[in-house]
Amino acid sequence: MRTVLVTGGAGFVGSGFVALALSSRPDWRVVVLDALTYAGNLENLEGLDARFADRYRFVRGDVADGAAVGRLFAEEAPSAVVHFAAESHVDRSLLGPLDFVRTNVLGTATLLEAARGAWAPGGGRFLQVSTDEVYGALGETGRFTEETPLAPSSPYSASKAAADQLVLAYHRTFGLDTVVTRCCNNYGPRQFPEKLIPFLIARFVDGQTLPVYGKGENVRDWIHVDDHSRGVLLALEGGRAGQVYNLGARCERRNLDLVRGLARELASAAGGDPDRALSRVVFVKDRPGHDWRYALDPSKAERELGFRPEVPFDAGLRATVRWYLDHEPWWRRVQTGEYREFVRRTYEDAGAGGAPPAAAPRGRVGV
Ligand code: NAD
Ligand code: TYD
Repeated sequence: MRTVLVTGGAGFVGSGFVALALSSRPDWRVVVLDALTYAGNLENLEGLDARFADRYRFVRGDVADGAAVGRLFAEEAPSAVVHFAAESHVDRSLLGPLDFVRTNVLGTATLLEAARGAWAPGGGRFLQVSTDEVYGALGETGRFTEETPLAPSSPYSASKAAADQLVLAYHRTFGLDTVVTRCCNNYGPRQFPEKLIPFLIARFVDGQTLPVYGKGENVRDWIHVDDHSRGVLLALEGGRAGQVYNLGARCERRNLDLVRGLARELASAAGGDPDRALSRVVFVKDRPGHDWRYALDPSKAERELGFRPEVPFDAGLRATVRWYLDHEPWWRRVQTGEYREFVRRTYEDAGAGGAPPAAAPRGRVGV
């Protein structure tokens, strides 16, 4: 039995990865370390306790807390770390950059130090889950390869780039077995309704407008969250130490086209008029430093890891719309804050803190 420490496992991508790992790797024990910030939702991990009781453990804790991370390494002796935990939303990073530096940079460094202290050579692998946003913005043409110089624009992407550089430095300097994956924009079930797709779905259901930043000409490269998880697993098991792998599905969409398609899809799913739904799309003030275009070249992951995204975008988006319409209670509980009741009762009222205060949403960019 090997023990894999997954940080950020209560979030959008991490929770899918935890479920995939437990169901597809019967000889793994998965220990989740998550601070349960505003983005962490224990409902995302519901049922795993019962299904995988002896192979699954959830620990509430902060990746930047060296003592807590050290204790967990001593207790569990993991032979791999899959590091998802992060402050992940660009707009929030414009409103409060220091949370991003603390969690994304100091948190990654803290985990690397624990791994360096615990692992003899060959004793473990550290996988850093990163983003294409570290490469900065593209113009109309070209794609990011793993050789593209890092040129992050936002505090979010700058903090992820700093973390990636630390991970690569620990490989070069200390010989730590590290792998970095850089993925493009994810979509799918359980994404926190501040990100474009779930944010607009919730607004649509509430009869509100669908805000598009600037002229909606920015381009994002999309991948289904399950394909991202599969890519991380492949990189963990088959990636070469010290390497970076881009994970993408070659699926660029202009924001305006995506939002119009989403509006039409929502209207059809809800039995409304798709053309009338388009009138809900409005243009709002642009995001400062808004990266123009992202496009990832995933050839290296395809070639070396056999990475093949399986979910076609149109089918994936339709299924995602269906999921949000069918799981309205999930995102309503997020909107009202009820999803944190369990955390409050279990950890905070009991005085067993150990995590940074949940960042309260502080307004929105653009709207
Ligand atoms: P998310 O915001 O949904 O979840 C982040 C999780 O990390 C939450 O459960 C939160 O409680 C936890 N966390 C935050 N600070 C912590 C701390 N100090 N200690 C321990 N846990 C903490 O994020 P996501 O969308 O699931 O993204 C996960 C990872 O994937 C991030 O590293 C992100 O940079 C990367 N990524 C995401 C996307 C995407 O489109 N969502 C794309 C590429 C890369
Ligand atoms: P987002 O989901 O925040 O992801 P990221 O900034 O990491 O790419 O936003 C995706 C794109 O959608 C980005 O170009 C900003 C844009 N956007 C809007 O036009 N309207 C919105 O309400 C939001 C949240 C984002």
